[in-house]
Amino acid sequence: MEFRLRVFRFNPQEENAGRFDEYKLSYEEGMTFLRAFHVIKERHDESFSFRHFCRAGICGTCTVMINGFPKLACKEQVLPYILFADEITVEPLRNFEVIRDLAVDNEEVIGRMKAYRTWIADSSENKPIPPKVNKLIEKGADCILCSACQSYCPQVLEPDYAGPLFFAKIHRFLVDPREENKELRLKEALDEGHLYHCLSCNKCNNVCPKDVEPATLIRELMVYGDA
Ligand code: SF4
Ligand code: SF4
Ligand code: FES
Repeated sequence: MEFRLRVFRFNPQEENAGRFDEYKLSYEEGMTFLRAFHVIKERHDESFSFRHFCRAGICGTCTVMINGFPKLACKEQVLPYILFADEITVEPLRNFEVIRDLAVDNEEVIGRMKAYRTWIADSSENKPIPPKVNKLIEKGADCILCSACQSYCPQVLEPDYAGPLFFAKIHRFLVDPREENKELRLKEALDEGHLYHCLSCNKCNNVCPKDVEPATLIRELMVYGDA
């Protein structure tokens, strides 16, 4: 079975604007989009650029827009798409600057991760975590930083709005009994991250590949903020 992949191509160092190139590919059993990208690179154009690392849905580096929705290319199967249409469109993540083709600049995410200190403050006490609390921590801790939610959130275009990825992380630390700076964390979410600018549209919940449900965690943060 053959299908066509319309792929966004752009080299900002040499071009002023991107374009879509079309590749005719043969379906292979179990083919993921990441595999299709490798076929393009191996057989059509070795300059084609995209990010990936683990190939197992863990590292969060391979996220791209497939037919307008952010997906992990290493997990997303080609077959369901070509059963209904013989052409699929692949673009880089929205709300991010393109470095080349499907690879985007995630420096801002890394910078914000550092600014929000997404790690537990040093604690000398070995505080036990009740199983119920552990369940709450797991939600935000399951986040693989894939940026699918950031790319699909309409409010991320507002420069000061931190975005669902960060609120999920802040929630993870707020509910962790080992965190010593809960008040500061909440202040950061409210004042610097502009938590209340969230539209509660749930788009981030719908596209998260790890069921982190950032919009739900945001609403829980708002309850903390109102308290
Ligand atoms: S619920 Fe809030 S964070 Fe999630 S996509 Fe909508 S505006 Fe963005
Ligand atoms: S919350 Fe979900 S969609 Fe957002 S970065 Fe984490 S894993 Fe990806
Ligand atoms: S390559 Fe790691 S999540 Fe896809």
